Amino acid sequence: MGTLTVRRSGPLEGETILPGDKSLSHRALILGALAQGRSIARGWLDGGDTRATLEAVEALGVEIARDGASRLSIHGGALEAPDRACDCGNAGTAMRLLAGVLAGQSFESTLDGSDQLRQRPMRRVTEPLRRMGAQIEDNDGRAPIRIRGSRLHGVVHRLEIASAQVKSALLLAGLHADGPTTIIEPGPSRDHTERLLTVMGAELVPEGRVIRLVDPDVELQPFDLTIPGDFSSAAFPIVASLIVPRSDVRLRAVGINPTRTGLLDVLGRMQADVDVQDLSDESGEPVGSLRLRASGLEGTLIEGDDVVRAIDELPVLAVAATQAEGVTVVRDAAELRVKETDRIGLLVLELRKLGARIEEQPDGFIIEGPAKLEGARLDSHGDHRLGMALAVAGLVAEGDTVIENADCISDSFPGFGRTLALLGAEVR
Ligand code: S3P
Repeated sequence: MGTLTVRRSGPLEGETILPGDKSLSHRALILGALAQGRSIARGWLDGGDTRATLEAVEALGVEIARDGASRLSIHGGALEAPDRACDCGNAGTAMRLLAGVLAGQSFESTLDGSDQLRQRPMRRVTEPLRRMGAQIEDNDGRAPIRIRGSRLHGVVHRLEIASAQVKSALLLAGLHADGPTTIIEPGPSRDHTERLLTVMGAELVPEGRVIRLVDPDVELQPFDLTIPGDFSSAAFPIVASLIVPRSDVRLRAVGINPTRTGLLDVLGRMQADVDVQDLSDESGEPVGSLRLRASGLEGTLIEGDDVVRAIDELPVLAVAATQAEGVTVVRDAAELRVKETDRIGLLVLELRKLGARIEEQPDGFIIEGPAKLEGARLDSHGDHRLGMALAVAGLVAEGDTVIENADCISDSFPGFGRTLALLGAEVR
């Protein structure tokens, strides 16, 4: 298992682009598989999670051609019964979205994954799918999931948690239902599935927190999609640039879908110097460049919709809070406990090893800053975002910070260490 060693660094400077958006890379494969014809995805993320999705989709008989690492041509159409379990690796998005797709097919299939994925809750998706008539067996609410495909009914779902994975699974199942599917969500979860399905010709009516798939039997058209840089990956150089003194960095062509950019709003309240420039649109997804300058940050309160719109960025936001003047409180974030790891318990455990003043709460944490951090030996616990957040903390800690189990970082951000090093960080 690889380690990453990080040292207190001088100013980060220069310009970079980030690997493609992970959420969109999963969706390009899964929705492309359902289109009638050949779709193109450029800027696809070649990471551990998305490779698992690619192989799972291939196991369903979909032909995918690769031109270089990041251009895919996906030949969609009718899916075929897999001759083996579809292995989703560590990818929760793959498992939950594919459960929705497979529920309405005319064959049997099994979705499985790594030991880590087998620990994660799946009832949130199997239960509402059963209400649509799906025949699904799970292992006490966890993977493996066995699905006997059947005709589904359109129903109205009122979600208890704001989850784009669950919402997407139900919309994808709705494509095989005999009437409209309506979803009422409690918060603004990412809407990439809705945007891409609309580009493909599906009739979706979003009205505030209600999303209605009106005509399920539409023939989905192939797409030509350029996937922007992943905002969730950008979050690491964003926070690094703000907390490493005298830094000045530009991140080009980053996806800035407003359901993803809660971090920017929170950092704005913390007095961060962030400029959004060069706005454009790629297949219905907003894109921009971000200019970041080191800033004196102030503590803030993060709750409610901000949490939903920054859910994957909260570990690195916690690192920013360790360097901010005053108290930062994160609450309403119990979902963090069922991500790749328990991101509340393990973040608190690891940041304390560096000397951060952080208190665990059932649904978040409280951080008092600024703290003088001291390098230490830390563990990613196999969680890519935890590993990267700790590495960013290491950039402002005295001495060496060693992150063990760092290989998982390539699940979402292959080349993370290299990208930081090119900006001037001491990483190896
Ligand atoms: C994702 C949705 C979010 C997010 C995950 C990716 C997606 O999960 O945390 O990293 O691509 O739909 P939930 O749907 O569980 O909130």
